[in-house]
Amino acid sequence: MEVEKVIIIDFGGQYSQLIARKIRELSIFSEIVPYFSNINKIIDEKPKAVIFSGGPASVYEKNSPSIDEKIFSCGIPILGICYGAQLIANALGGRVKKSDFREYGKVSINIKNRSTLFENLPPSFNVWMSHTDFVDKLPEGFLVTSSTSNCPISSFENRKLNIYALQFHPEVFHTDFGSDIIANFLYKIADCKKDWIISSYIDEQVKFIKETIKNDRAICALSGGVDSSVAARLAAKAIGKQLICIFVDHGLLRKGEKEEVISTFSNNKDMLFIPVDASKLFLNKLKNITEPEEKRKIIGKLFIDTFTNEAKKLKGVKYLIQGTIYPDIVESGTLTSAKIKSHHNVGGLPDKLGFSLVEPLKLLFKDEVRIVGKELGLPSSLLNRQPFPGPGLAIRIVGHITEDRLAILRETDFILRDEISKAGLSDEIWQYFTVLPGIKTVGVMGDTRTYSELVAIRAVESVDGMTANWYKIPYNVLEKISSRIVNEVNGVNRVVLDVTSKPPATIEWE
Ligand code: XMP
Repeated sequence: MEVEKVIIIDFGGQYSQLIARKIRELSIFSEIVPYFSNINKIIDEKPKAVIFSGGPASVYEKNSPSIDEKIFSCGIPILGICYGAQLIANALGGRVKKSDFREYGKVSINIKNRSTLFENLPPSFNVWMSHTDFVDKLPEGFLVTSSTSNCPISSFENRKLNIYALQFHPEVFHTDFGSDIIANFLYKIADCKKDWIISSYIDEQVKFIKETIKNDRAICALSGGVDSSVAARLAAKAIGKQLICIFVDHGLLRKGEKEEVISTFSNNKDMLFIPVDASKLFLNKLKNITEPEEKRKIIGKLFIDTFTNEAKKLKGVKYLIQGTIYPDIVESGTLTSAKIKSHHNVGGLPDKLGFSLVEPLKLLFKDEVRIVGKELGLPSSLLNRQPFPGPGLAIRIVGHITEDRLAILRETDFILRDEISKAGLSDEIWQYFTVLPGIKTVGVMGDTRTYSELVAIRAVESVDGMTANWYKIPYNVLEKISSRIVNEVNGVNRVVLDVTSKPPATIEWE
């Protein structure tokens, strides 16, 4: 690709992808590489700028992630964020110290010394901090550009060297003017152009798929979710009926979802579509499994086995189209960030299936995938679907997964979705669902004692699921949801609301 690029060097921060996304939103292409990548190779690629991400380590610890110091003298503009900022200070002769307390959350900074990074911004605003270490002494030639009441050096720079550093996180939603700071760095300091455009990406990928697959056949694992649907549509545009889509129903979908997928794709004349009902198999293997990671792993493996069996029945297939998107690669491929959960989705099929992989969306973020889908004519009901995890309802049932509990969860989830839609909130809430926490409580119905399941409501607002705030569903809507659930769903006598954000909780319960 001939477009300009910005490279993010990942030191294991939870927000590295957010940095990449923010940059793409500014119409500049960005890529994330781990800190142990070959620096000569990075410099040879001639990025317009390099950004050092945050990370959980301390720069003064033995074996903490570091970087070849060549990067500081190659003339490429550098922006260090949090750990990245401390790394700059430490590497160039400053000092980083451990503080007695952790500065976490929104903090007000005061701008000093008019930095280009803060051009056109107010003299004081809120930023998001998450650190224990702090820069205590600057390297020679560097200047403080902002401070907070607890952190005298909350940003610093050396204009001559083109090196800039922020102790706070401009990439997170909670930092006021975060995008402006990144834009100032990229447009004003690094002189980047706005040359990352989605429609040219589609043409390029269609051409690439045609040239790769030629007259052979390709298969695609279609879940009915946004990513695999867009990948399938893109591939169908390139190779038409040489594409065969396989939909594995693992029995862990929401009410009506299987039917919707089948009706959307079975009438599609552009491609061949094969639905497979594997629900019994999945439920059998999940019997008596209660540990969340074990559930995830069993589902991931079974999905692959089922798909492989179906694929083996087809003749002349050489390629596998996957709806892998950029966060899938960075999340499961990075060796730097701490593992929170084993994510599974249809993008997780192993390449040892014997097919060559084609991943037309692998450089895109979710919002970019939606734009591609829209340009390809997919319906907005499909494109704007709330995210749904690969392991499905299994990770919303704490404890044993049974047909009965799945039926309860499906019904309660359906009622929640119905009421959210009636209240006109569907587009407002990023993700919402019900959970069975595996608790039974005592209730009274008529004159009878009940001892039934408790249902929790989870609703969050988020940009990409990396961080999330719990959504304040209005009380009158909650009242309707709660009353419908206990009245319409047998086996439930109590409804509670999850009022935790991410972090510290995750969005899904398992
Ligand atoms: P967590 O629970 O990690 O979820 O805060 C963040 C977002 O990811 C979705 N999620 C998954 N998506 N496969 C997926 O494709 C998975 O295994 C998986 N686990 C969680 C979750 O629904 C939320 O949107």
